Amino acid sequence: MYDNNPTLEGIKTIDEAKQGNVLFKEHWQETSEPGGRKFYIESYGCQMNFSDSEIVASILHEAGYSPTRNVEESDLILINTCSIREKAEETVRKRLRFFETVKMQRPGTVVGVLGCMAERLKKKFLEEEKLVDLVVGPDAYRDLPNLIGGVEDGQRMVNVLLSREETYADISPVRLESNGITAFISIMRGCDNMCSFCVVPFTRGRERSRDPYSIVSEAAGLFENGYREVTLLGQNVDSYKWENPETGERVNFANLLEMTALVHPKLRVRFSTSHPKDMTDEVLHVMARYDNICKYIHLPVQSGNSRILEMMNRTYDRPWYEDRIRAIRTILPDAAVSSDIITGFCSETEEEHQDTLSMVEWANYSMSYMFFYSERPGTLAARKYPDDIPEEIKRRRLNEVIRLQTTVSLRHNQADIGKAFEVLIEGDSRKSDQDFCGRNTQNKMVVFPKKPGLNPGDYVQVRVKDCTSATLLGEIV
Ligand code: SAH
Ligand code: SF4
Ligand code: F3S
Repeated sequence: MYDNNPTLEGIKTIDEAKQGNVLFKEHWQETSEPGGRKFYIESYGCQMNFSDSEIVASILHEAGYSPTRNVEESDLILINTCSIREKAEETVRKRLRFFETVKMQRPGTVVGVLGCMAERLKKKFLEEEKLVDLVVGPDAYRDLPNLIGGVEDGQRMVNVLLSREETYADISPVRLESNGITAFISIMRGCDNMCSFCVVPFTRGRERSRDPYSIVSEAAGLFENGYREVTLLGQNVDSYKWENPETGERVNFANLLEMTALVHPKLRVRFSTSHPKDMTDEVLHVMARYDNICKYIHLPVQSGNSRILEMMNRTYDRPWYEDRIRAIRTILPDAAVSSDIITGFCSETEEEHQDTLSMVEWANYSMSYMFFYSERPGTLAARKYPDDIPEEIKRRRLNEVIRLQTTVSLRHNQADIGKAFEVLIEGDSRKSDQDFCGRNTQNKMVVFPKKPGLNPGDYVQVRVKDCTSATLLGEIV
């Protein structure tokens, strides 16, 4: 759900943000009016936030704005923010210092803060950051044109109302910075869990599920436009539930997965994130029935120790989690499982940390996103438990987990040498335009030499010859 950074923080660095996360779509250039207003948007945090930026872009497009990659020529600068860890918020503050210099050169430029940090800090943002004109929470994006109007009339505007209904179901997101092959579809918003470390329930509000027919039609539209893979997004996809108020028809996550898989056998379906307490065997059986549902589950454990899990309010213990892994191994023997892990949570002992290490080993994760605990104001843990593990110990434990996970990932990949996989070509590999890259069903990145006649969006059989801990290297068979 967040980018593939196996080190300390799961958010993009500033440099990456400058190059990569600036949302843009080529054909918009043609439609932009000469002298029309331009917006620039930068996104941080999880995939849902990136997906929200595509909704924002669509709303702004309707309001007559065109996108630009060049912040210096924009009339409206937006930063879609993340609050998940302190470091994520620091990154945003640094970017605001940079935007300040831009605004000094172009005094009329409107600067807006969107997303989770806007929701967390609300009006306080305007007191703390003098350059900010606009603070908009994740459920208020439809109000953007109106809020921008207020700023143009000389006011500073805030809308951080959370909603119980908003899913932006009718807004067709503009696919920006897209490879044209893989896309994300938000299927729900908010979170009703209360993991004690987590700020998301406060920044994203109550859980609500989007109309399944709007999801399926978005997937079908993507397929018609050449896309070959969709990832269904939610903080806890297994608790997806929708009911037709008129007919009483009910759709759960297993049903939705099946409906999406039926769009086309050549459309791959992925999803993220699964919560161990809610992941059902029904979902696993649907996955087993459809070849185009990828055999990969992101099932964050957070800690391998039951006492810590209890304090984290994850509502499962280690035996429960192990049972879920066993169910995956039984129903989907070829599936890969990955995880999220937090080290140095309040009062965690060395022994309890060892339990997390043994879980990484036992679960044989193909990869993990790993973090050290960062106390977030207002969360249950911040109110109840002292943040009593010194940072150097948190970091040392994190490094131990990263080191072990790297070994386990390498072993996991080495076991694939000699096997052939179906790979969906996504584009050129990062290192060479002589090579393609794409993923196999287990979500492993595979790099292989190109062959004439093949293009991104094609499926190929690739035999694995070699690997690193992060990538499989192969040849087309
Ligand atoms: N909904 C997903 C996770 C969303 S946040 C789930 O329940 O699995 C992504 C990850 O960030 C979490 O899984 C957790 O590992 C990490 N995280 C969340 N809050 C954190 C905090 N306060 N400190 C460190 N890591 C945190
Ligand atoms: Fe946060 Fe827990 Fe909800 Fe995930 S399930 S978003 S960790 S509260
Ligand atoms: Fe996502 Fe960060 Fe918000 S992880 S939900 S953008 S706090």
